[in-house]
Amino acid sequence: MWCAAICIRFAPPPNPLPTLWEKGSQKGNLNRLPHPILPPSPTAWGKGIGGRGLMLLSVEDLHVHFPLGHGQVVRAVDGVTFAIERGETLGLVGESGCGKSTTGRAILRLIPPTSGRVVFEGQEISGVSPSDMRTLRRRMQMVFQDPFASLSPRMTVGQIVAEPLEIHRLHANRRGREERVGALLESVGLPQAAVRRFAHEFSGGQRQRIGIARALALDPDLIILDEPVSALDISVRAQVVNLLQDIQERSGIAYLFIGHDLSLIRHVAHRVAVMYLGRIVEIAPAHDLYTDPRHPYTRSLLAAVPVPDPARRRERAPLEGDPPSPIDIPSGCRFRTRCPFAQEICARDDPPLLPIEVTGGGAAARPSHRAACHFANTLPVWDASKAADTVIKP
Ligand SMILES: Nc1ncnc2c1ncn2[C@@H]1O[C@H](COP(=O)(O)OP(=O)(O)OP(=O)(O)O)[C@@H](O)[C@H]1O
Ligand code: SF4
Ligand SMILES: [Mg+2]
Repeated sequence: MWCAAICIRFAPPPNPLPTLWEKGSQKGNLNRLPHPILPPSPTAWGKGIGGRGLMLLSVEDLHVHFPLGHGQVVRAVDGVTFAIERGETLGLVGESGCGKSTTGRAILRLIPPTSGRVVFEGQEISGVSPSDMRTLRRRMQMVFQDPFASLSPRMTVGQIVAEPLEIHRLHANRRGREERVGALLESVGLPQAAVRRFAHEFSGGQRQRIGIARALALDPDLIILDEPVSALDISVRAQVVNLLQDIQERSGIAYLFIGHDLSLIRHVAHRVAVMYLGRIVEIAPAHDLYTDPRHPYTRSLLAAVPVPDPARRRERAPLEGDPPSPIDIPSGCRFRTRCPFAQEICARDDPPLLPIEVTGGGAAARPSHRAACHFANTLPVWDASKAADTVIKP
């Protein structure tokens, strides 16, 4: 049902923003950088995305730890590595508390990373000065889950959308700013009259459009979307998702799309990264991940996705048990306490995120599909209709 709902397409905005739509790949350093997770060729990218194979963001061994005192540390993000190309949507999924938002915030340095590298267009941002970081923030924006809490109740919509332009001293004269704000509102399907109204006068879906207009104001290359539609009614989710996709098609913007809903992520993402207890345990082009998942945790998440067919639903069991605390991560494979396939080695050795072997392809590896499991190449062949076979032990 939901999948059908989000497939409803909406007409593109009548007057796209020239600066936004036309920039394409003109900006910045277009050199492709070597990366441990990126495949060497853009043709390995599943759906092809922007298809240009141009690296935008690279996150390498990112850690974000929160000390709690008494020697206790929350390892919220504990060695995350991935990359995003221009024009690509990378979905980031996982259970509540696995570190998705902390990863997004650490990329923008809204939270200081404990260690690791974040490289944006070839520039490592961990060591940049505050003024350089300000410039970089123009290129990377964030949209938050809660459109009710994330917009100031004391500012008009016009002021909210114009604020980033003022902070970054763009469109110095008032007229230029007003024109830009008008174009931004139009691009997200809001009426011009919205500029004089307050955010609380709008519905949840409209507020999220205001948040998106604000995020677009500085013409960014990347938006981190932290569960951008989770707080919205199901009926308006489709509109906001379609708006985001239309914007991407026109502008070549890249998204890190954080979410819980695997059906939605399948619809929006070119590639998907599955996160568990502060680490990415599987990453693959969306089609590969959903049809040939190689990590038991990914299989468990997929097994828990509701299906419309009642006969199939009976075969499935929900994802059971809670993940261990990020204060006390199990030795070896961090998923072993819930994994039906766990063996002795799993308690001893932490499995690295390695390319999987192609089924029926001998030892040939599929570099764009990686899983952190000692048995990723020997698990039973995935059969979505018998998903209950692979669910987590109670
Ligand atoms: N400032 C903080 N101090 C201590 N612990 C924190 C802090 N921020 C987050 N955490 C912890 O870090 C872990 C990851 O939190 P995070 O918000 O990134 O999870 P999430 O995957 O986004 O979850 P959700 O899906 O519920 O939004 C959680 O255990 C959380 O309690
Ligand atoms: S390494 Fe072992 S415990 Fe971890 S997911 Fe694979 S089989 Fe399960
Ligand atoms: Mg979160």
